[in-house]
Amino acid sequence: MKNTTRFLLQGVAAAVVMTSFAARADVQKEPRFPVNNPQPVEGQYVHVPPTMEDLEKSDMHPELKRVIRRGHDLFMNTQQLRGKNVFNSMNCSSCHMGEGRLPFAGPVWPAAVVLPNYRPKNDQVNNLEERIAGCFSYSMNGKPPAWGSDDMVALTTYHQWLAKGVPIYQPGKTLYGRGYPNLPDPAQQPDYARGQQVYEENCVICHQADGAGVVKNDKVVFPAVWGDTSYNWGAGITRHFTLASFIKHNMPLGRPNSLSDQQAWDVAYYINNHERPQEPRYTGNVKETREKYLETFHVHTSYGLEHDGKLLGDHDNVGEKDFLKPDALIRRTYTAD
Ligand code: HEC
Ligand code: HEC
Repeated sequence: MKNTTRFLLQGVAAAVVMTSFAARADVQKEPRFPVNNPQPVEGQYVHVPPTMEDLEKSDMHPELKRVIRRGHDLFMNTQQLRGKNVFNSMNCSSCHMGEGRLPFAGPVWPAAVVLPNYRPKNDQVNNLEERIAGCFSYSMNGKPPAWGSDDMVALTTYHQWLAKGVPIYQPGKTLYGRGYPNLPDPAQQPDYARGQQVYEENCVICHQADGAGVVKNDKVVFPAVWGDTSYNWGAGITRHFTLASFIKHNMPLGRPNSLSDQQAWDVAYYINNHERPQEPRYTGNVKETREKYLETFHVHTSYGLEHDGKLLGDHDNVGEKDFLKPDALIRRTYTAD
């Protein structure tokens, strides 16, 4: 069979499997998970990751199953590492929806098949552990579990198992639904006031007027979208285009793809013009830090720009943690030390 035909057939299978997310009551108490994302196009590689049910049914070694289960548990309830590796109200699953399996919701399996590879963000070759470390350092405003530790092995094993059957070094751009696929450029410049209105009408009920979400009995019910318990200024989702796509395809919870593209851009701009913990790569001067990482990153964020008479990110607030930059972000040099 020609590859493209196979991919398209897999696409149909994906649609069927994705429909079954509709009934997925275990992860989200939402009644429906609509399947109205863009469909795969010719030449795209479609992968349907295995489910935890598949894991239980498989004849893999019981010890391997145990480690994958642990990785899944850490991914879904990363708050168990709060105060140690996580210093905000996030789980990995807060941004990587559907247990890290869903297209257009930051599926995590691609990392297992495109890495090790060069990443401009830290200007070095990254393996899967280092990629996960990136999300701990920025998205979780924390520091990653040690390289090769039980928790790190469990997480990487879960990621790699989700990629079961995908050829290694598949070109990343051809993977259907990878990351948060870019929306078309907005017709009008994203606007704070319009974004605020979208937020008040569609988001405030869960994420709250102060952006802090809802935490009950140490359980994150609704994660924070800004403030001390949210992601920090270096997180990938502080880029307006990334947040706009995340929102368009995943929010409001249970009603993905219900906002217009313009509304998604506006509300992303609104959220990402609020304060949050300091960028771990902060040099001590926000404008200088913005400049230093402008081309690879901050050209897409509001960090170091003025909003409402205040310079965003002009502070020493690192949130709940007591350090700025985790050691894991120190660039490898391959020199003797
Ligand atoms: C605040 C949101 C957020 C949280 C929380 C978060 N991530 Fe991410 N993650 C992102 C964004 C944004 C990207 C980049 C997606 C892109 O490039 O489009 C990403 C990318 C990744 C990738 C690479 C995927 C690929 O396509 O190569 C992996 C792996 C990953 N995250 C794992 C994790 C793990 C594990 C955790 C928990 C420890 C976590 N993330 C928590 C936002 C988040
Ligand atoms: C019914 C409650 C609900 C509504 C309404 C809702 N969200 Fe969410 N949102 C969630 C939950 C729950 C998550 C975490 C995903 C998970 O755990 O599966 C989340 C995750 C997020 C995240 C990523 C994690 C973080 O905290 O940064 C962002 C950003 C976000 N929502 C923005 C929005 C925006 C913008 C709207 C309105 C257009 C919206 N949400 C409406 C419940 C909701």
